[in-house]
Amino acid sequence: MFKVINKIGKSYDLNVALVFDGGVEICEHISAENRALIKRLIDKKEFSGKKGEILKVDFLEKENLISMALLGMGKEEEFTFDVYREVMFDFLSKEKGTVLISSDKAILSNHEVLGEIVSNVNYSFDTFKEKKAEKLEVELFVAGEEKNISETILLGEATDVARDLVDLPANIINPITLAQRVVELGSKYGFEVEILDENDMEKLDMNLLLAVGRASITKPRLIVMKYLNGKNNDEKIGIIGKGLTYDTGGLCIKPADSMFEMKSDMAGAASVIGAMCAIAAGKVERNVVAIVPACENAINENAYRPGDIIKSMNGKTVEIINTDAEGRLALADAITYAVRNEKVTEIVDVATLTGAIMVALGSLTTGVFSNCDEKYSMLEDASRLHGEKVWRMPLFDEYNEQLKSTVADIKHTGGRMGGSITAAKFLEGFAEGLPWIHMDIAGTSFNSSVKWVKKGATGVGVKALYSYVKNR
Ligand code: BES
Ligand code: MN
Ligand code: ZN
Repeated sequence: MFKVINKIGKSYDLNVALVFDGGVEICEHISAENRALIKRLIDKKEFSGKKGEILKVDFLEKENLISMALLGMGKEEEFTFDVYREVMFDFLSKEKGTVLISSDKAILSNHEVLGEIVSNVNYSFDTFKEKKAEKLEVELFVAGEEKNISETILLGEATDVARDLVDLPANIINPITLAQRVVELGSKYGFEVEILDENDMEKLDMNLLLAVGRASITKPRLIVMKYLNGKNNDEKIGIIGKGLTYDTGGLCIKPADSMFEMKSDMAGAASVIGAMCAIAAGKVERNVVAIVPACENAINENAYRPGDIIKSMNGKTVEIINTDAEGRLALADAITYAVRNEKVTEIVDVATLTGAIMVALGSLTTGVFSNCDEKYSMLEDASRLHGEKVWRMPLFDEYNEQLKSTVADIKHTGGRMGGSITAAKFLEGFAEGLPWIHMDIAGTSFNSSVKWVKKGATGVGVKALYSYVKNR
């Protein structure tokens, strides 16, 4: 729970003052005696306010026991919000009960960033646990006018929606139950939902998506979410999320250790679903269509095979090389649907697409590909605003050589070298020249190494997509 207050009307388990290195000043509302006490402790313990440094003091103030902590944020000149995120997450993760936070420095009283961190600290996937995690209650004291924190709260909630969807296992979330949940979220948050089933998709020739999902008992669904509230009707933003509710690899089956995390192969879908919740509930004045090709890459006698040649919705024939490269196939038809049937004017796709992006960037940074410098830089700004690291990857046309097929228009994988780039080149071919961004979140969506996010689902992309759509 997170609140911003401008009057202190109760007592807290802990009162935290955020300070810069060398700039410790004890606020005026503490008695002169206690200020002297704290001052002496600071000198004795040589506390100066280095990054992450903590000094805890208990004292009596008008007969009330006050527990206070000074928390160092490092040198003021070296301060960034990522420093703040790291220090606050670390600190708050170890606390319980009610915590009051304040600072003399305006920059350290930023409710947007603190709200994000509180939401990260309080997230836990305990749906299946008898004992639920306790939630920390954090209040930020900011003198002056009241602050509107509804957007911060909403973004935290939307991120939790995505994280829950990713953490939920594949025996609960399959293409059909995912579609049902999106219908419920649509009515809760205020966006329209349309679900296409396998028969609808057959009529539309979405053969790539159908092939990927063919061996599963739960057949593919195309989940189409709409929030059309734009003043500018020349613009319709298409956001597309890979929705593999499970990825066994298909006939090119994955080894057990790499299969284990594949309930998270719908994290791209979860990000766009979460983003839609925030965009609609936040009444963002844009036209947005979000599309999730939802399917399960399973194995039975009906499974698609390496060597198959399949005609995509857009008409290109695709030679299947490795059935574990299923994501780009599902996405290709979804992109065509967005371009041709929804007439979007730009595309962002989000996908747990390649292991190769983890080889390149680890699990700290999302790899981003784009054919448009301007849109890329908007996405980079939107990501940075929320402490999500992104890095731009190349799309030189020479990489297309690796996708040449002797029997079809295109192969769908290009070998081990530059694996995340050839995957992106494959997708680019379906965007039909529209401005397009592709985010490969294979490394960052689950068990990431981001210091201020817990292990498990991260909800990466939800806030970035929201701000990308809103801030233009
Ligand atoms: N879903 C995986 C990518 C992935 C790997 C996501 C690890 C999260 C963690 C994707 O469908 C996949 O299997 N990609 C293959 C492509 C290859 C066969 C060309 C890969 O990266 O190995
Ligand atoms: Mn795969
Ligand atoms: Zn996959």
